[in-house]
Amino acid sequence: MATQNSARAAEPKPKNRYKNARRNADWTIDQDWQSYSADEHDRWDRLFARTLKVLQGRACREYLDAVKTLRLSESGVPNMERLSDRLEKITGWRIAPVTDLVPDDIFFDHLANRRFPAGAFIRSEKEMEYLEEPDIFHDIFGHVPLLANPLYADFIQAYGKGGQRALKLGRLKNLARLYWYTVEFGLVREASGLKIFGAGIMSSTAESVFSLDDPSPHRIGFDLERVMRTNYIIDDFQKVYFVIDSFEQLVRDCTEDFGPLYERLGSGPTYEPDELAAGDRVIHHGTLDYFRGRQTKATANG
Ligand SMILES: [Fe+2]
Repeated sequence: MATQNSARAAEPKPKNRYKNARRNADWTIDQDWQSYSADEHDRWDRLFARTLKVLQGRACREYLDAVKTLRLSESGVPNMERLSDRLEKITGWRIAPVTDLVPDDIFFDHLANRRFPAGAFIRSEKEMEYLEEPDIFHDIFGHVPLLANPLYADFIQAYGKGGQRALKLGRLKNLARLYWYTVEFGLVREASGLKIFGAGIMSSTAESVFSLDDPSPHRIGFDLERVMRTNYIIDDFQKVYFVIDSFEQLVRDCTEDFGPLYERLGSGPTYEPDELAAGDRVIHHGTLDYFRGRQTKATANG
């Protein structure tokens, strides 16, 4: 017969142990770094080592340089306060611990003020490869290094300001596609070939290989309006990756006034992720083989 203790031990642990943490008005919480268990630190170290190994030769140069400059992982789960002190000296950005996703207006306000909200919990052993909710590995390992790059740091702040405007103008869906196809799943062209800069790819070893090496997905030159017209998949590899020429291009294209573009987006086509459009700069015409017969969940926000 099970004792009360063994019954309790059999209860599933909450996925995110910060879920009910005391939250400030800006949705930040205390990371409470001392509370990470030895298992959690070890899990971070294993994720860090195996993912970084796959990213050698695959991640963009700016990312790999920044991982070293920032001393991203000294040992165990990073202490966001200490990491922020190092990051702030380089580009003025800090990392703000949060429980998980925060409301859009709060998210944009943080970005517009050079604070990056980062989930404090770490994924379970069962989800080492991918999870839909942003945990500390995705947010710190995936997003934070490039915030040490001055151009990229400016781009993300501009995105935050653009988000505040898009909310007012009812254009969030279009802007979210820009974030998805660049900040999360963007590729960049380097002299030696295509490289990864999107955090959603960086934090998944399988997608790091898929996005660059698999013949299935389309790879298309970045075009702001095309990106803003394209739906995306939230629960599988992407069917299309957009490739920027440089971070200079990203900053130049994405800090212009989006007003006229939003006007145009009021009419005209919306593209599905597996669709090619007239005028696309096709770098690789995907076979889509991987996706045949798979059911995917399309864009979360409609
Ligand atoms: Fe993310």
